[in-house]
Order: sequence, then structure tokens, then C-alpha cells
Amino acid sequence: MDDTRYLLTAHNDDLARSGRRPCFYVRNYGCQMNERDAEKLRALLAKLGYEPVDNQEDADIILYNTCCVRESAEDKVFGHLSRIKTIKAANPRLFVIVCGCMAQRPEIAETFRTKHHYINVVCGTANRHRLPDMIWHSMQSGGQVIDINEDEGLPELTDIPVTTREYPHKAGVNIMYGCDNYCAFCIVPYVRGREKSRLMRDILDEVHVLAEDGVKEIMLLGQNVNAYARKEVGGGFRSLEGEVARRNPPPTPFLTFPSLLRQVHEVPGILRIRFMTSHPKDFSDELIAAVRDLPKVCKTVHLPLQSGSTRILEDMNRKYTKDEYLALCARLQAAVPGIGITTDIIVGYPGETEADFEETLDVARRVRFSGAFTFIYSKRSGTPAAERTDTVPRKTANERFERLTDTVYPIMLERNRGLVGQTVEVMAEQDGKGRMDDNTLVHFTGNENTACKAGDVISVRITDAKSFYVSGTADNPEG
Ligand code: SAH
Ligand code: SF4
Ligand code: F3S
Repeated sequence: MDDTRYLLTAHNDDLARSGRRPCFYVRNYGCQMNERDAEKLRALLAKLGYEPVDNQEDADIILYNTCCVRESAEDKVFGHLSRIKTIKAANPRLFVIVCGCMAQRPEIAETFRTKHHYINVVCGTANRHRLPDMIWHSMQSGGQVIDINEDEGLPELTDIPVTTREYPHKAGVNIMYGCDNYCAFCIVPYVRGREKSRLMRDILDEVHVLAEDGVKEIMLLGQNVNAYARKEVGGGFRSLEGEVARRNPPPTPFLTFPSLLRQVHEVPGILRIRFMTSHPKDFSDELIAAVRDLPKVCKTVHLPLQSGSTRILEDMNRKYTKDEYLALCARLQAAVPGIGITTDIIVGYPGETEADFEETLDVARRVRFSGAFTFIYSKRSGTPAAERTDTVPRKTANERFERLTDTVYPIMLERNRGLVGQTVEVMAEQDGKGRMDDNTLVHFTGNENTACKAGDVISVRITDAKSFYVSGTADNPEG
């Protein structure tokens, strides 16, 4: 990428005359992988000569990195875009970029082309490294540029420094991209492309750089991290690792997700390692042992259930049964006492009966999740489930949603109440908040004398509990 070229863009020339640097504003929607992408997109805009601002009203470039996993996510983006349209009416030089999963959907890109002319650039999920070119072309031509083609190889913004991040003390690291699981309800495989794992040495290099930059907690990211290296590695078979991974399952123990965990565990300076998301169908005993034996690996697992009904799970193409899910949780809880299991659950999937839903409640009661993201099924066109006509009425889905939260939240509260009176270790984040190893959110006061900063590990005496967090007083270290 030729940076100097971009410093000569119409935008920068114009602003140079007014004596100020051009500014950018990035808004992110969606999952942790999108957040990591947004960090890279911010770094990219900074590299092009723009400075960050906190308000979109003050920006010269606005970039939205979008999500389309549920209709509500798209509605949110469209709502915010209508605001941009107003800002742009007052400031015609404003440059608007929409990228990410939603932009990758051809029908949405087409809507942007025909109805949203105030958007200058529409960019997908697999060609973001070409974003500077798209910006350049749009600025030169004054027209809208849409490019959602998928490039070969890994959709990584490789020349962006990994040290540009949202938090000083923690960072996400992508270990794989895309998804090949094709759960019947899910649009992710269509907008994120095929499953690809990064080379282990690239991941470790990134973790080392992050550790040297002060990062204490690493979150290894992928749609299905426990299938790491199951398929293609590095976007092509350009290494021994890639050759080995091609054989499925990998015959050598060094190329599995647990082996990656063990390697990341060796990186000096890293105190905590988390990972998400784990698909229950690929959660091996080797991984359970790694969570049990590696002290830096946090005692928490995000294990999306989706439904407790084996019949629905089969329809969803999840490839595990209710009993297999329960057995996996029991193995995890036996191996790692006190482990926090969090989950995702969908209610109102097509064909879901009252009996199916009862099975979901049954699993929730038996596993006792420490956290749950609950969703009402959202039809995503292009997915197999969207073809179904046996849809659950909205009223029934809403009612099940409430019954589900009425079941899971009190269990979370009870779990958290068990912490009252205990002194726990917390990694501080900001403004008197932090997380326990098992991901429990802790609000604390009384650390004024300790001058604790993000990434410090402190002791907190828990005095109160709510469903979503506990609160307490930080111990001031002696002296
Ligand atoms: N890869 C992860 C999930 C990524 S999407 C996994 O397999 O678990 C995050 C969550 O969004 C999913 O776990 C699911 O619960 C929810 N979700 C995905 N598609 C959905 C849809 N069409 N309607 C409602 N919820 C959905
Ligand atoms: Fe979607 Fe299933 Fe892939 Fe998760 S594993 S991203 S739910 S298709
Ligand atoms: Fe959304 Fe894309 Fe993540 S659809 S959940 S931002 S992978």
C-alpha cells in the first residue's frame, strides 16, 4: 500500500487548507471478531493520515463495521445510517464507508447501491486490505464504490500493527476465519467464507508482540476454535503445518487447539488466556485436560447450546444431542470444579414445540450456566431454516424467551450469591470494574490507595451479588 498517495487525496488537500487534520469515526457492531477487525480498520484509517474522534458529527470519514447475524442487528445499522444521511446533508464532504458482514450480503449491497447514495464505499469481509484503493477511487471519481468480492487467502489486514487496540491490557487474536458448520439458522458461513486456520507461528508471533506491548490477557478468536487446524492452515498449504493439517484429523498432537493453548501458555507476560467460541461437537477430552492443567487458561468456557431438544438440534445441523451436551458439561464440571459455563440459546426456531422448549429449560436447570445470551430466532434469507414454513408465532417465541430468562437469570444470581463473603482475584479493567478468572464481572471500590490500572490483578472481598455481576471492596495491599 502506498501511503503517500493517500495523503494527497482530495479530502486531505481540502482539510490541509483549513489547517486541521482530517478525522475518522468507526462504529462496530457484532461479535468479538468484528471488534478485532474494527481495531484494525481504525489502525488502517490512522495509517492513511486520519485522526480518531469521539463523535461522528465531528468526523470527515465515518466507517460502520456491520453485523447481520439477526435482523435486529441490521435494523440497528439502518437506523444509525439514517442519522448519517442527515449529517451528510449538512456536510457534503463527509465520506461514508460501510463494511463487514452485512455489506457482504449481495442483497444488502444492492440496497446500498440503489437507495443509499450517501454511502461512498461498500466493502465486504474478505477484501478489506483493498479498502484504501476503494477510498481512493471513490474520492477521485466522486461516485459510490462497491466491492464485496472474496479474495483468495486469509482476509487478514496483515500490514496493520497488532498493537493498535481498544484496551491496553487485553486483546483478541484471530486464530481462524470463516465457518463451515452451516448451522441451519446461521448466516455466518455465507458472509465469512470457508473455515481457515492461521499458521501457529503467525499466531504466536502476534501474541509475543502483544505481550511485549503490555497485554496480559489474550482471547483466542474463531467461530469454532476447537476445530483449529482441522482444515486448511494459512490460506494455502505453504508449510509443513499446512501439509499436516490437510490430513483430517491431524495425526500429530502438535497441531490441535490444545497444543496451540499450550504454546500460548508459554509466552512470558501473558497471565490469562480465554477462547471463544467452542462448538460442543468438537470439544475433546484433550481440551478439557488443557483447561484443567494450564493455570493461565481461564476456568470458563463459552459453549453455545442453541436448543436442549435433540430433535431441534438435528434440524439445526448442530451434530450433538441433548445427552451429549449434558455429558460434556458434566465432564467439564468434574475436571474443573467451579468452571463457569456460558452459552447461547435460541428460542422459537421453526418447528419448536412446547416439549422441545421444555428440554431447553431442563438443560439450563441442570447445567446451571454462569451466563447466557438468549435470542429469539431470526429468519436469515439464504439459510436452510429460512425455507421452513412451520414458524413459531412471535407471541409464543416472546413468551418462551421470557420463561427462559426467568429460568437462567435466577440461577446466575444464585451462583453469584455463593461468592458473597469470599475474597477473589480480579483483573482490573477500568472505572472500578474487572473480571474474575471465570469471567464473572466484579464492581469494586476502595482501591484509591492502590492506584490500580487496567491489567492489575487485585483481591476483592465480595459483599453483594446481582444476576450479571458481583460487587465488593478491593483490599489495599500492605504499605
Ligand atoms: N460460532 C458460534 C456462534 C456465532 S453467532 C457458535 O457456533 O456457537 C452467535 C450466536 O448468535 C449463536 O450462537 C446463536 O445463538 C445466535 N444466532 C445465530 N444465528 C441466529 C439467528 N438466525 N437467529 C437468532 N439467533 C441466532
Ligand atoms: Fe453459525 Fe454454526 Fe458456524 Fe457458529 S458454528 S458461526 S452458529 S454456522
Ligand atoms: Fe455478526 Fe459477522 Fe460476527 S454476522 S456475529 S459480526 S461474524
